[in-house]
Amino acid sequence: MRISKVSLVAAVLLASCATSQAQEKSKGKADVSPAELKAKIDYCKTCHGLQGQGFRGSYPMPRLAGQQPEYLENQLQAFIDRRRNNPVMFNVAHVLTPQLEKALAEQFRELNPKPLGGGPAGDVAEGKRIFGEGIPKSDIPPCAYCHADDAKGRDAFPRLAGQLSDYMYRKLANWDKERGQDKSNPDNSAIMQPIAHNLTESQIKAVAAYVSQLE
Ligand code: HEC
Ligand code: HEC
Repeated sequence: MRISKVSLVAAVLLASCATSQAQEKSKGKADVSPAELKAKIDYCKTCHGLQGQGFRGSYPMPRLAGQQPEYLENQLQAFIDRRRNNPVMFNVAHVLTPQLEKALAEQFRELNPKPLGGGPAGDVAEGKRIFGEGIPKSDIPPCAYCHADDAKGRDAFPRLAGQLSDYMYRKLANWDKERGQDKSNPDNSAIMQPIAHNLTESQIKAVAAYVSQLE
């Protein structure tokens, strides 16, 4: 458990830093009009599912329902800054005002649909063990330390409960190529980097299968 203590300290430091950034950003003056907000949300839902539950098109679109607002705002900003590499979400996010980002994050937090399910199979019992106990011999701390016992996350730590398992698989397998892409501006993705790196393919499948079915 050597590494996990270090990661936790880093997690707390980085997360509190990201938190204050998000709060700073959301101190806007202008309110968002209900019509503008509704139009935007309807647009998000064309890809992320009518209840924000996620959607499988030619690739998996992540669940946003019940997501932690701070995490969601941080990701929108990461797409805009190209710290997180995704051309589709860059186009979506770069036109949003900070007020709109905050309002969208609050709306998605309120949604609570059942998990979409239907992802590839994985060893759910093994996934539950990894989530709750980590993998000490690979220096992997319990996911529950940061993502909470019920996998609903907190603040800058994302909710994983009900997330599409194939989306999570892709993110964890490609962490270094997609997240933390501006080395001069490190972000919270650095906390997950060693964990994503140390998980094997079958461990990722197991833990993704486990959390994807949690309500
Ligand atoms: C054209 C389809 C499309 C639209 C419209 C769209 N998204 Fe996305 N969104 C995606 C895809 C694809 C991803 C996954 C990116 C990746 O794999 O890294 C994503 C990822 C995200 C993420 C990261 C989620 C996570 O768990 O890290 C957030 C936050 C997000 N979108 C918010 C929004 C919001 C808010 C809107 C509406 C303003 C929106 N999206 C509209 C396709 C879309
Ligand atoms: C030390 C704290 C910590 C631990 C332990 C941890 N995570 Fe994370 N995780 C994070 C943070 C912080 C983020 C958000 C990174 C960002 O903002 O870019 C994250 C993001 C993720 C994401 C991306 C979510 C999305 O919607 O794109 C997945 C998937 C994930 N973690 C899975 C896991 C799994 C599985 C474990 C256990 C094997 C785990 N995490 C353990 C801190 C942690």
